[in-house]
Amino acid sequence: MCGIMGYVGACDAVPFLLAGLRRLEYRGYDSAGLAIINGSGLEVAKTPGKIAALETRVAGAALHGRLGIGHTRWATHGRPTECNAHPHTDCGSRVAVVHNGIIENHEALRRTLCAEGHRFRSQTDTEVIAHLVERYLGEGLPDAVRHATRDLHGAYAIACIAADDPTVLVAARGGNSPLVIGLGDGEAFLASDVPALLGVSERTVVLGDGEIAVLRRDGVSLRTLDGQEIHRAPTRLPCSAEAAEKSSYPHFMLKEIFEQPDAVRNTLLDRADADTGEIRLPELDGSKVLSTLNRVQFVACGTSWHAGLVGKHLVEVCSGVPATAEIASEFHAGGSALDDRRVLTVPISQSGETADTLAALRAARDAGSHSVAICNVVGSSLARLAHRVVQTRAGIEIGVASTKAFTAQLSAVTLMALKLGLVTGRLDPSLVRTIVKDLCAIPALMADLLGLSDAIRNVAARFADRQTVLYLGRGLHYPMALEGALKLKEISYIHAEGYPAGEMKHGPISLIDARTPVVCVALRGPSYEKMASNIEEVKARDGVTIALTTAGDAEGARQVDVAIPVPPAPYWLQPLLAAIPLQLFAYHIGVLRGCDVDQPRNLAKSVTVE
Ligand code: AGP
Repeated sequence: MCGIMGYVGACDAVPFLLAGLRRLEYRGYDSAGLAIINGSGLEVAKTPGKIAALETRVAGAALHGRLGIGHTRWATHGRPTECNAHPHTDCGSRVAVVHNGIIENHEALRRTLCAEGHRFRSQTDTEVIAHLVERYLGEGLPDAVRHATRDLHGAYAIACIAADDPTVLVAARGGNSPLVIGLGDGEAFLASDVPALLGVSERTVVLGDGEIAVLRRDGVSLRTLDGQEIHRAPTRLPCSAEAAEKSSYPHFMLKEIFEQPDAVRNTLLDRADADTGEIRLPELDGSKVLSTLNRVQFVACGTSWHAGLVGKHLVEVCSGVPATAEIASEFHAGGSALDDRRVLTVPISQSGETADTLAALRAARDAGSHSVAICNVVGSSLARLAHRVVQTRAGIEIGVASTKAFTAQLSAVTLMALKLGLVTGRLDPSLVRTIVKDLCAIPALMADLLGLSDAIRNVAARFADRQTVLYLGRGLHYPMALEGALKLKEISYIHAEGYPAGEMKHGPISLIDARTPVVCVALRGPSYEKMASNIEEVKARDGVTIALTTAGDAEGARQVDVAIPVPPAPYWLQPLLAAIPLQLFAYHIGVLRGCDVDQPRNLAKSVTVE
């Protein structure tokens, strides 16, 4: 996924574009660039590498202008080189365009345009857009962009400017690559995501799929790609500028780990009553599917899929309704969307823009399934595609590794499972009230756990040089083993693998030796004794054992090389607590290894391509 910025107004566009690209750098950071229109016409500056390299290049070029676009790239077609960086221009540098998405028919378009005499310089799919717009430029930039989009197949969010018309910026969207417009007094802003507009504009308009926006100093107009006018009231931005800053933390990831008590507390607000134990989940109420429900299918990617695995387990235990947790890219590819009128589909996504998850939801809806999404971004594609949406209230999550959004998702799936337990009559209301009260106490226990950060850093220092780490867990602890492994591998580049503890002796045990730490989620619960046996099997092969143990469990602590105590909590709520030491362990190892924990190599915050 990539980051797009745009500005038209009375001020110099460059500072806004660079500041916005820096806030969007989590979306992609292989290369970056910007294009400005000023008295000298169209000027472009772009570099491989991060925004800092672009800032140096721009300063050296003394680039200024009141109309411009910018881009930070996560490469899909073509290596991250200066030539492949965006913006891309036509041969005569009359048009500049930046793009997020994939143009699936770019090769055929390139052949046609080359036959017409257009000369290409990059290996990207995006460059065809610049040549197409230039081909139609006689119609004026807005209509030229509209015309060009009719030739495009695939997903795109684009911003385009032209030297011939230095007063207008045109944006267009086809598919699920987001674009948000910020309205100002005598100026207008464009961004791929809200963080870039915080502190800049308070009134925003989301550009929808199949829509085009024309931004001028005196206002913004929206149309459908076939020319129908659209009137959309602006919405007020949900948070302040500091939400998109690190404040006193060294990294966004650490800040967001420490924001988890609030993320869970806010997600539970007005949904779980600590006094009465009541659950209020109107997003589930009135869904007629509940009366004939024969399956719940969670569908997601990555960390969100791990939340789905926890949800699957809890839904089955609480309600007796069969549940699955589908990896989104396999779901729609494997045709799992059978005749699903009695199925509740729960797509889970932090960004709400993950292409695989959106495609899976479309397949489920086409098969007749009712959908209730769990999503962290208001107005995202997923939030608008699902029948209903349970918004997690984790706030903006900038770090590429998902942390506070994950525990917010866990609190949402827990509420959903308890609610289904009441609906099906499987759970006694008094038990649900007790669990809900315990759930409301989780944020305070999370805060206690965060106090272990320094101790966990000391543990991390002992293992930061390892090449392989195994994570083991059983039952509800198995998804946490997967999540711990994903956190470690994605920010420290250590090969880490999560496994069901019982499966370890069916293969992975061959990996165990004195150099291979094994992280065990060994909290007191239904599978504690079996986990203890697995730990003994690891120790018998000189494996070093690091265990999350229940605070006060002296026996469990004695059994392992390193014990990280987790406050006691009901089994169903333990994933919410286990997440924190696993995140801190991965974070500290990543930092100790000198990795860029907020923007790990090759990753993007939201993968908006399939
Ligand atoms: C999580 O740390 C990763 N960044 C990644 O697995 C992520 O969870 C996945 O790409 C899904 O993203 P989403 O929640 O925005 O859909």
